[in-house]
Amino acid sequence: MPTKRASGELAAGEVILELKGVYKLYRTSDRHALSNVSLTLRRGEFVSIMGPSGSGKTTLLGLVAGYDDPSAGEVAVMGQAMHELGDRQRSLLRAHDLGVVTQSYNLLARLTVEENVLVRLGPVGIRGKEAQRRAAEALDAVDLPRALWQRYPEEISGGEQQRVAFARALVAEPSLILADEPTGNLDTVTGTRLLDLLRRLNIERQTAVLMVTHDNYAATYGHRTVHMRDGAIESDISAAGVAL
Ligand SMILES: Nc1ncnc2c1ncn2[C@@H]1O[C@H](COP(=O)(O)OP(=O)(O)OP(=O)(O)O)[C@@H](O)[C@H]1O
Ligand SMILES: [Mg+2]
Repeated sequence: MPTKRASGELAAGEVILELKGVYKLYRTSDRHALSNVSLTLRRGEFVSIMGPSGSGKTTLLGLVAGYDDPSAGEVAVMGQAMHELGDRQRSLLRAHDLGVVTQSYNLLARLTVEENVLVRLGPVGIRGKEAQRRAAEALDAVDLPRALWQRYPEEISGGEQQRVAFARALVAEPSLILADEPTGNLDTVTGTRLLDLLRRLNIERQTAVLMVTHDNYAATYGHRTVHMRDGAIESDISAAGVAL
């Protein structure tokens, strides 16, 4: 399982995510969704990914989350090669180390807003009052009004669902947050608050962030911006404008 130190802390500069020569060809397609993608993320790094629709951004995040496997190449999270892990071990790795906000939020329809966040804590052994305290803290952090906490996902707006998905992604204090268009459905004020929250987690907890965005302003929150085109990395540029 994840090679964490006894303290649960990772050393500074430690590699959180490594993709080496990753290709992805979907069975139903004759064109690679990803083509020779290599990328390294260290502890405390915040990387934005930009690129046209269909350039492979969501595919990339899905491979990192272990939802799917590359056709070739290797994905390692917390030093652990994903292809060596079975479904149960991947779930454990996700529960302990990853916070994922997908484009479609994936909230559980039969659970309330609060329960959707709470279920994320069971797999890491946090239950009862402590779980409730943490869930409340996460929902407050994303500015979701308490009046909505006992509602079901279909009873709240898309932007509110997006914030619940965000709370669920951060509640277990992951080492790496994967966020696919996390502000896509939000007004500017709410979107900026969530970006500020990501930045705060990144600075205070050294949480690594891999964020897909179409928004130039959102991308400036990253230390680096990776531009993708046709499944390949076109450029990888630091915030200071230095090509990496
Ligand atoms: N499950 C799938 N089966 C077959 N092809 C797929 C599948 N998912 C994605 N693709 C294809 O792979 C390519 C990359 O898709 P992907 O969803 O990664 O793009 P994206 O950069 O996230 O786009 P967007 O900005 O629209 O979300 C596209 O050509 C898409 O049609
Ligand atoms: Mg996408």
